[in-house]
Amino acid sequence: MSEQTLDTFDVEQMIPDFTAPALAQCTPDRQMVDAAEINTRHWTSHVAGPFEAGSEIHLRETCRMFRETFNPYRPSVLDWPKLEPDVLERIVSLPIWDIAVQTEGKARLRMAAYAATIDEAEMRSALALNAWEENRHKEVLSRMVAAYGITLASEAPYVFPRDAEWAYLVTGYSECIDSFFAFGLFKVAHRSGLFPPELIDTFEPVMQEECRHILLFANWVAWHRARLSWWQRIRFELKVVAVWVFLGWERIGLARTIDAEGNEQKQDNNFTVNGAQAVSGAEIDVRELMMLCLEENDERFSGYDERLLRPDTMPKLVRFALRFMREKKVK
Ligand SMILES: [Fe+2]
Ligand SMILES: [Fe+2]
Repeated sequence: MSEQTLDTFDVEQMIPDFTAPALAQCTPDRQMVDAAEINTRHWTSHVAGPFEAGSEIHLRETCRMFRETFNPYRPSVLDWPKLEPDVLERIVSLPIWDIAVQTEGKARLRMAAYAATIDEAEMRSALALNAWEENRHKEVLSRMVAAYGITLASEAPYVFPRDAEWAYLVTGYSECIDSFFAFGLFKVAHRSGLFPPELIDTFEPVMQEECRHILLFANWVAWHRARLSWWQRIRFELKVVAVWVFLGWERIGLARTIDAEGNEQKQDNNFTVNGAQAVSGAEIDVRELMMLCLEENDERFSGYDERLLRPDTMPKLVRFALRFMREKKVK
């Protein structure tokens, strides 16, 4: 793959005291991949006592978790297995590639833009690493798209946010929503057996990284909130409400995506259910799918220190919605 298909984005340029992490030098063998997976999924602080939101310990341990669970995989050595024509067709026709690539493009810029505004060095560095990892996700996707001949809409230029905090909140809460469903869909794809296990393995670190990202985000929100004065706090809470309204508006399909040529791009706003059918090759009961998303969400967070806060809005909303969904009768 030509390096020209990869765009340039440099977190180090935006955040001068950030140093990009070192990556694996060689193509990792099974043992190295497994060790990295265990490391990235499990983390417990050696510090005793509670992590009071906003405290020095909460800050230090949140940032330490993020640093110490880093997975050093290198996108350029990922193997893209040869796919049977029907599997290739199934993957190429998933309506997610444009939005996935553009979401990573926006996320890296918005996270780096907000990180640059943070005075506290450890938190700045954690958010900068998060931005760097979003850039790596974009590289993984770009390499996959090129390997399988997926045609993408041209990307409109990414605009530097005027309000970096707003942009970071939109990105963070979006990740909380999207990752919750993505965890379930990934499991559906895995169980279906329709995709080669090597391809599932390639995306596994990306999935777990999104889990770390929203774990960091939930703890950043709590840390940030606890350090605000009462009037700053009111302003912040209003902003958070506005972000959720905006995300709801975006997700019910009122937002439009425009590509670099100014053409409107259609998005599939019911992707969770349609996507589950596309990756499993079968009809999926919505209730079952939501239960699976919950299970996977719990599983992905289960290895991290329980004193770190979890993103809980989506699990709570879905648990509430499940009360009104009837169980499918077995005939
Ligand atoms: Fe990402
Ligand atoms: Fe992320």
